Amino acid sequence: MDEAVDESRANACQSTISVSNVPHFEAPLEIGNLKLSGRLLLAPMAGYTDTAFRQIAKQFGAAMVVTEMVSARALLEANPKTYQLLSFTELERPIGVQLFGGDPEVMGEASKKVMDQIHPDVLDVNFGCPVGKILKCDAGASVLKEPQRAGKIVKAMIQATQNQVPVTVKTRAGFDKFDNAVFEVLQSVQEAGASALTIHARTRNQMFEGQANWDIIAKLKQQSRIPIIGNGDVQSAQNAYRLFQETHCDGIMIGRGSMGNPWIFKEINEYLEKGVCQFEISKKFQLNVALSHLKSAVQIKGMPMGLMEMRKHLTHYLRGFQGARELRQSILTSMDLHWIIQTLEQFIEKMPDHQFEETLC
Ligand SMILES: Cc1cc2nc3c(=O)[nH]c(=O)nc-3n(C[C@H](O)[C@H](O)[C@H](O)COP(=O)(O)O)c2cc1C
Repeated sequence: MDEAVDESRANACQSTISVSNVPHFEAPLEIGNLKLSGRLLLAPMAGYTDTAFRQIAKQFGAAMVVTEMVSARALLEANPKTYQLLSFTELERPIGVQLFGGDPEVMGEASKKVMDQIHPDVLDVNFGCPVGKILKCDAGASVLKEPQRAGKIVKAMIQATQNQVPVTVKTRAGFDKFDNAVFEVLQSVQEAGASALTIHARTRNQMFEGQANWDIIAKLKQQSRIPIIGNGDVQSAQNAYRLFQETHCDGIMIGRGSMGNPWIFKEINEYLEKGVCQFEISKKFQLNVALSHLKSAVQIKGMPMGLMEMRKHLTHYLRGFQGARELRQSILTSMDLHWIIQTLEQFIEKMPDHQFEETLC
């Protein structure tokens, strides 16, 4: 590890906060009638947050997870791939199923089908996806151009499912600029009966560029009667604390900060609960998490799919230690699962133990 990184980590771990400064952190987050065990949620990330990853995030303290987004229309057409994306285990509860679609009727019917067949704890609507082909079907962030439609969709979902579970929404801070659209979306979904709103604090046009604008989260929180979950650029316990502190948001959703780093939930929870960052986790332990993630992904998805899909996770896990580059180069180009597991096990075996060694729960 280079000296600069070493130093910033040491500084980070010395910082102490007063827990009472964190708004409402002691009380659990309530989404409708659902009481969560904490205030940190794993963000839905298509291609990443599958059942294997969600289980790991839960083990490290994510209070709720959400499936990758699925098309409401594909659900109604009973597309088997769509159903695969929605499969989850009891370990992952409470879990939200995220749907995308632009037609209130289709969203209502799909929600009913999900409730009848899959029984999640929350139904979430994707009003934030910036991708062209999603916008073309009037879904994702396109609702920011027509905020009233957001409420119509939420209303149709609540009616179709007879209020069985909370309906929540996830959106962005604007379409092409920071204007009033997101506040109109909030008002429209609030009136329709939505139970929470997650805000990824970038506009649709920003995609994932630039810094998330947390001021928008603070302003939404001021105007909202429902919980506001802040999202965008949370990568450490310290900036999670800053997001709570600066915006008074009710919860935080973490996406990219959890890639190859699912223990971030434990780090943040400890920091916010104890007021000091004592949690440190050895590289050896991190690689053991990567190994068990790999085994679980292959067990669930089989070969070669499980291994292929793990490569992007392994790229994130295999960083920041001596020999990481060589290990990545050999492991990420092989299709021999037995050899990969053996190579990782041998590498881990040779790594020095660490005073903060833990076992995976
Ligand atoms: C690879 C990838 C896939 C994503 N897929 C989804 C998705 O299916 N549904 C959704 O609402 N947001 C999706 N997002 C957006 C994230 O949930 C989150 O809002 C965004 O990454 C900002 O949070 P972060 O800075 O913590 O990553 C995705 C993001 C990434 C990087």
